Amino acid sequence: MAARIEEFGLWINGRWESPEGAKRFTTINPATREPLASFVSAAPKDVERAITAAHRAFPAWRDTPAPKRGEILLRAARRLAERKEEVGRWVTREMGKVIAEGKGDVQEAIDFIEYMAGEGRRLFGETVPSELKSKFCLTVRQPKGAVACITPWNFPTAIPNWKIAAALITGNTVVFKPASNTARCAVEVVRIYEEAGLPPGVLNLVTGPGGVVGNALIDDPRIRTVSFTGGVETGREVYLRGARSLKMVHLELGGKNPVILLDDANIPLAVDGVLFGAFGTSGQRCTATSRLIVQSKIYDQVLTELDRRLDHFPVGDPLDPATAMGPVASADQERKILEYIEIGKAEARLRRGGRKLTGGLYDRGFFIEPTVFETAHGTRISKEEIFGPVLSVIKVDSYEEAIRVANDVDYGLSSALYTRDVNKAFRAIQDLEAGITYINAPTIGAEVQLPFGGIKQTGNGGREAGSAAVEEFTEIKTVFVDFSERLQKAQIDVE
Ligand code: UN1
Repeated sequence: MAARIEEFGLWINGRWESPEGAKRFTTINPATREPLASFVSAAPKDVERAITAAHRAFPAWRDTPAPKRGEILLRAARRLAERKEEVGRWVTREMGKVIAEGKGDVQEAIDFIEYMAGEGRRLFGETVPSELKSKFCLTVRQPKGAVACITPWNFPTAIPNWKIAAALITGNTVVFKPASNTARCAVEVVRIYEEAGLPPGVLNLVTGPGGVVGNALIDDPRIRTVSFTGGVETGREVYLRGARSLKMVHLELGGKNPVILLDDANIPLAVDGVLFGAFGTSGQRCTATSRLIVQSKIYDQVLTELDRRLDHFPVGDPLDPATAMGPVASADQERKILEYIEIGKAEARLRRGGRKLTGGLYDRGFFIEPTVFETAHGTRISKEEIFGPVLSVIKVDSYEEAIRVANDVDYGLSSALYTRDVNKAFRAIQDLEAGITYINAPTIGAEVQLPFGGIKQTGNGGREAGSAAVEEFTEIKTVFVDFSERLQKAQIDVE
């Protein structure tokens, strides 16, 4: 007998509402296929109501002093900290990442909300000398208005908060559209702000397919900025669609992130990092290590060490703290990853893994073996984003070749180099085409107080988190104050 599951509505103007006759969808646990909760598949008219709520709530929120906004954020962060365990379990149950990472996802959200709360007492502008006497020149940051935050399933609490907390502290109001398969986590995100006393309409939640909800948000002229994290194809659509109303569209898209191991690398340390980078979150991070580029002298040794470690790499129930890797997030993900593995088998040498796991608990969920290919650079698996537990290992002869291979992909999010040679490390910081470079650490695990984002097809030039978060959600106003009591002409009265 099917257990009853919780039903959720849309959160619009500070109320949970269930539009009459609305279609619904259910999220499931990817480790067990157990249904978790049911959500409204919003129609364009529902999205319209959410935008109207955000638009109406904007003037009062904009006029609330930023430090006061910060107090609300701080309360939200504290609520989330109190509930970290519970929400972390929701992340694991709904998305499948292992429980330590589920809680890490929530911790990243807490860290960022706290950081943004403090930003309420900064939001610095510039003061700049004038070329004229008795004149002040300065800049202030102003919110944009109602903004849309469209978020993926792989970090179901962290990424929404990177966007929402930054938008709120800077005085914007938000319509939040989460990925459908992690909608239960999105409810937790909204709840902490509700409990923290955020005024009605300042944050609104609409669930449903991107083709309906996302498009309605992007098309509405009252939405001034769309912040989107997801796949490159959808990102391109979002960008083109947003261009029609000349919206600011912020994109965080894919990656094909390399770890380079030079001859002098600390091999056990590097292999530790590669395993975490490649198979953490079952490889479903934009920052995942999907390429391991190894200098020839240590190539065999590195692969032997990888094999040795993968012989004891438990894949299974993500709620069990002993598990190293859980399922992939959905049937769709499983299908796409297995397709890529087939492509890899035809063009490269499968070193290990490569199968869907079956038998026992595996039969209930979407489990794939940690998979390692040895490949030449240039194959599809070495260049395309797979977003799964698949690592391509590539042998190179020199530092120069390693950099050439690392850079020869369409993406540029994260990158890493293991070496003990400080000069090579600094050269690589210059040479690697990526928004993020790690030295002697894997490609994942960015911290919230630093800007996050990438180049090439990873995005369209923006960064989020860190100091960049404020830029994403504010307009700069340039202010000239002339207290000379006469008409002064810039560029003309200068002789
Ligand atoms: C992502 O995969 O989209 O650096 C975000 C990391 C995490 C964030 C990843 N802090 O791996």
